[in-house]
Amino acid sequence: MIMTIKKMLVTCALPYANGSLHVGHMLEHIQADIWVRYQRMQGNHVYFICADDAHGTAIMLKSQQLNILPEKMITQIQKEHKQDCYKFGISYNNYYSTHSEETRVLLHDIYFRLKKNGFIKSKFISQLYDAEKNIFLPDRFVKGICPKCKAFEQYGDNCEICGAIYTSLDLINPKSVISGTSPIIRKSEHLFFDLPAFTDILRIWIRSGSIQKEVANKVEEWFKLGLKQWDISRDAPYFGFKIPDTSEKYFYVWMDATIGYMGTFKNLCKKNKNISFKDFWSTNSKTDLYHFIGKDIIYFHSLFWPAVLSGSQLRKPTNIFVHGHVTLNGSKISKSKGTCINVNTYLSYLNPDYLRYYYATKLSSHINDIDLNLTDFTTKVNADIINKILNLASRNSGFIHQYYNGRLSKKLIHPVLYNMFVESRHSIGELFQKRDFNYAMRKIMKLADTANRYINNNAPWHIAKETTRIQEAFSIYSMGIQLFRVLMTYLKPVLPKLAKYSEHFLNTRLTWNSISVPLLDHRINKFKIIFYRIHPDQISSIMHESQLHISKT
Ligand code: 2FM
Ligand code: ZN
Repeated sequence: MIMTIKKMLVTCALPYANGSLHVGHMLEHIQADIWVRYQRMQGNHVYFICADDAHGTAIMLKSQQLNILPEKMITQIQKEHKQDCYKFGISYNNYYSTHSEETRVLLHDIYFRLKKNGFIKSKFISQLYDAEKNIFLPDRFVKGICPKCKAFEQYGDNCEICGAIYTSLDLINPKSVISGTSPIIRKSEHLFFDLPAFTDILRIWIRSGSIQKEVANKVEEWFKLGLKQWDISRDAPYFGFKIPDTSEKYFYVWMDATIGYMGTFKNLCKKNKNISFKDFWSTNSKTDLYHFIGKDIIYFHSLFWPAVLSGSQLRKPTNIFVHGHVTLNGSKISKSKGTCINVNTYLSYLNPDYLRYYYATKLSSHINDIDLNLTDFTTKVNADIINKILNLASRNSGFIHQYYNGRLSKKLIHPVLYNMFVESRHSIGELFQKRDFNYAMRKIMKLADTANRYINNNAPWHIAKETTRIQEAFSIYSMGIQLFRVLMTYLKPVLPKLAKYSEHFLNTRLTWNSISVPLLDHRINKFKIIFYRIHPDQISSIMHESQLHISKT
C-alpha cells in the first residue's frame, strides 16, 4: 500500500493566561496529543502548537487584583502552562503566547487586508460603563435581574435560569461586578467585522468538509438566525493590541486569539528554518490545518475564524475537532465551588499516563461531556494498565532472563495468534484516525485479555516443571512478550511514558510498521516495576489538597 505523507498543523485552543490549568483543561491537550502522536507514527509530518491567550478584560483585572503588571502575570502563567503540558507528555513543537510580536504583525496585516476588502465597518454603540472604575463593562462583568424570568444575579449575556439571550443593556437593575455600583450608559464608536458577507462561503465550507454532525447542525441553526456583524474593538482601558489607525481602541481578545495560532506557528518557523509559513497559510495550501476545541467556542472557530481567513485571502481550516467538557464525579468543574483538581496537584500524586489512558477510554468523535469519576478512574487504570498490560511483561520476562539470558525464542510458537494481533492494526488505526479512542482502547484491552488468557491456558510454569518441555515453556513466555510488544505499540500514542519504558525493556523502538516482524532471538532487558497501582490514599490526598466538595463515588 502506498501511503501519502501528509503535512499538518494541529492546534489546541489557547488557554487564558489568568489561572492554573486543571484536569478538565487537559482533556483537549490529551485528545489532540494522542491524535498527533498517532499521525506521527504513521509517518505524517505534524506541527503541533499551542499558546497562552494573553489579552482581554479578565486578564487585565486579574493582574490589577494581584497588583502586578499584566505582562509579568502572563509571562509567569505561560511558563506554568507550558510546563504542565510538558509534564503531561503533550508533544507541542511550540508553546507560545498571543502577546507576541509575531501575532501583532499578523493581526495588523489581516486587519488592513480586511479593511481594504471592505469588511470592516464602524458604528456607534451604547454600552454599560462603570463610572467609578472608568471602564466599559463586558457582559460577564455585569450582573442583574433577567428581563425575562426575573431571576436575580444573572450575567449580561444570558440567563442561567431560563436560558434567555439578551445584552447587558436589557438587564434590570444592573450592577458592575467590579465596583458593585450601578453602571451608566455610554456611547462609543466601534469597529465591526462584516460576518454576514461570508454567509455563503461559510455554508459551503461547513458542508464540504467532514465537520462533525453535531457541530454542523449547531452552525446551521446560527445560519437560520442570520449572522451578525462582529464587534472586534474595545475601548481603553484594555490589555491587548491597539488598533493601528484609531486612538485608544484595542482589538477584542478573540480577534488576536485565533490569529495567535498563526503567530505561534510563525515563531516556530523562525526557530526551524525548514518550515515554510506560506505552505501552511496560503489559499492554495496543500497542507492540513486542524483545530481541537471545546464545544463552547464553536462559534468562533466555525464562523469568525474561517471568515476572517477568507476575507484576508488565507486558507481555511481543514477541519475543527470539537469535544465536550469534563465533569468531576458528575459535577461541573469550578474552582469557586470546590470541584476542581489542578494539574499540579494531580501530578504530585499520580502518573500522567493514567489520566491520559482514562480519558482515552472515554473520548470519541462526538461532543458529549466526559465524567472523570475518581473511583472508576482508579478501577480502570489498575485493571487495564497494571493487571492486563504491565502484568503481561512482568509475568513472562522473569523466566526468559532466568534461563535464557534475556533472549527471546528463535521461532514463534503460535504465529496465527501473533498475526491476529498484528492484523488488528488496521481497525485500531482507523479508530485512532477517527478519534474514536474509546473503541480503540476497548479493542486493545480485548486483545490484552486474549494474551493473558493464552498464557493462563498454556500455563508455561507447569510445562517448565517437565525438563523435556523447558523449550516449549520458553516459547510460550516469549510469545507473551511478543504480544506485549504489539499491545504497547498500539498504546504508544496514549501512554508515552509507559511506551518509553517499554522500548527500553524490549530493547527496540515501538513503531506501527515494524510489528509485522516479531522480535526473534532478540535480547530484552529486565523488567523493573516503576509503574504502580493507584492506591485509594493517593486519591484521598488529591481530594484533600484540592479541597474537593464532591462525593467519593
Ligand atoms: O475559550 C478560551 O479559553 C479561549 N482562550 C480559547 C481561545 S482559542 C483560540 F482562538 F485562540
Ligand atoms: Zn431568565
